[in-house]
Amino acid sequence: MPDIDGYNEQLAHASNNQVCTGGFHVKGADHYDWGMKARLSSIFNPKSGNTVMLAFDHGYIMGPTTGLERLDLAVSPLYDDIDVFMATRGALRSSISPATGKAVALRCSAGSSVLAEDMSKEQIAVSIKDAVRMNAACLAVQAFIGSPDEIQSIGNICDAVDAGMDYGIPVLGVVAVGKQMERTTKYFQLATRMLAEFGAQIVKTYHCEDFESVVNTCPVPLVMAGGKKLPEQQALTMTHSAMKQGARGVDMGRNIFQAEDPVAMAKAVSAIVHGGMDDKRAYEFYLDTKKR
Ligand code: 5RP
Repeated sequence: MPDIDGYNEQLAHASNNQVCTGGFHVKGADHYDWGMKARLSSIFNPKSGNTVMLAFDHGYIMGPTTGLERLDLAVSPLYDDIDVFMATRGALRSSISPATGKAVALRCSAGSSVLAEDMSKEQIAVSIKDAVRMNAACLAVQAFIGSPDEIQSIGNICDAVDAGMDYGIPVLGVVAVGKQMERTTKYFQLATRMLAEFGAQIVKTYHCEDFESVVNTCPVPLVMAGGKKLPEQQALTMTHSAMKQGARGVDMGRNIFQAEDPVAMAKAVSAIVHGGMDDKRAYEFYLDTKKR
């Protein structure tokens, strides 16, 4: 027989806890099924509502990128300070321990290399069966909105959403910026909103002027892409500014693994994303951690 007072106390606590009352902690996800919500919760920390994804999928297009020459050595020191591996199945199977307990954003689109004139040609490159086998928390699919090949990109996103829905696996729609593609607020609003409307449950996009308006017009959570390596202080300021403007985390690669001290950088990024630290303190924290 449950202690009725204890039970009532638990209920009172539950009604103050948005995770338990149906007000799910991930934007736009209230009406999803249990498995999809469980996977989203492995990506977005239910306490902070945010995520630090470490992107190290660069090899699928660039080969052995600086800082990632030895995937095992580059990634293992970062395990403690990140929430999600964004990577290819080849990188994960060959070089990363499956015992870390980290969620996987599985890179599922591919199709061209840095040597190609037009890098916007991609197709779905992983079967849903293999994504399930890899225990993917989400399928990462890139879309080149505005490119001559946009119809293929849109098809890729829609096919991945259809396949993911069969198994409760969300799609991370990745907004690509190519050589000839725009990087304006208007472009990011268009591309992020399109991907969400096609059913992507999370969207990755770049920081831009008036990023808040991109967040506001996208009905699912945005994670900020890192992009080319910046000085550490600048990367932390960009992270803080995106979070202040409503991003729910980062999906960052080079600005972490190419930092002078990748572990200190991952800790500083996480302090902003999960701890709400401001960029000035985060940079001091980075320098301090780096010294030790
Ligand atoms: C491009 C990608 C990448 O391949 C990768 O994840 C980029 O990471 P970063 O630019 O932070 O080094 O998703 O959109």
